[in-house]
Amino acid sequence: MLKDKVIVITGGAGRLGIEFASAVIENGGYAVIADVNDEVGNAAVSSIAEKYNIDRIFFVNLDISSVESLEKLIDSVDSKFKRIDGLVNSAYPRNKNYGRHFFDVEYSDFCENVSMNLGGYFLACQKFSQYFKKQGYGNIVNISSIYGVIAPKFEIYDNTPMTMPVEYAAIKSGLLMLTQYMAKYFRGMNIRVNALSPGGIQDGQPESFLSAYKNVCLNKGMLDKTDISGALVFLLSEMSQYINGQNIIVDDGFSI
Ligand SMILES: NC(=O)c1ccc[n+]([C@@H]2O[C@H](COP(=O)([O-])OP(=O)(O)OC[C@H]3O[C@@H](n4cnc5c(N)ncnc54)[C@H](O)[C@@H]3O)[C@@H](O)[C@H]2O)c1
Repeated sequence: MLKDKVIVITGGAGRLGIEFASAVIENGGYAVIADVNDEVGNAAVSSIAEKYNIDRIFFVNLDISSVESLEKLIDSVDSKFKRIDGLVNSAYPRNKNYGRHFFDVEYSDFCENVSMNLGGYFLACQKFSQYFKKQGYGNIVNISSIYGVIAPKFEIYDNTPMTMPVEYAAIKSGLLMLTQYMAKYFRGMNIRVNALSPGGIQDGQPESFLSAYKNVCLNKGMLDKTDISGALVFLLSEMSQYINGQNIIVDDGFSI
């Protein structure tokens, strides 16, 4: 479905990013893992290259909050391939105080987290869309979340130290409107912008939480990290050519 498409994945060394890169490779594309963490980025490239026995995967260091870093990334991918077909925004920057309960969140932390994350997504989209405009086409997929779509189900966090951070609600809902804004702003430029909103992904959460989560889903409950890739490949492919400014939710019915 993605034959020879060159896809850049920000946060590509992360839990979902690695799966997205693998799915691009499995579907015949080239994947560029663009991540701020060199060590995990290089390790991800080695493991995917070994698994699929291919040289279609690359690592480039990237900080989504730096203009210079984004320009360097775009230049390096362009000089290698002479094109960029798609951008997947899957980075997850947060500061050391991220994840606190609502009444404990400091104003400065709220602002910093929104700036690092939503600001970084804006900047990556802006720089890539400038390139896409010149190129004559482009495709952006922003990874949002069900928590950009609905208010948290706080009750599932009862009896755990976890919560759904308030910054996350602001970031992910903001990203959905940013996605629509850009899709419309790029009218006539042949640049698509869509969002993909996953439900929660299993990652060693306590059993009581997994079971409370499952109770508000339809079949599976928390998803595996591989469960999101099908929708991503669809959005990156020509099969979704006229899907633009939309949000695809993959959450086993959590949000309905
Ligand atoms: N995991 C989930 O349950 C879940 C659910 C819904 C949505 N999401 C969304 O999916 C996306 C990926 O989440 P994940 O679970 O893979 O996160 P993760 O923390 O596993 O990976 C995020 C990656 O982003 C990189 N990163 C951090 N700051 C960066 C920066 N400034 N520039 C470039 N890269 C940077 C990190 O090094 C890391 O490799 C995020 O947008 C997240 O909000 C995740």
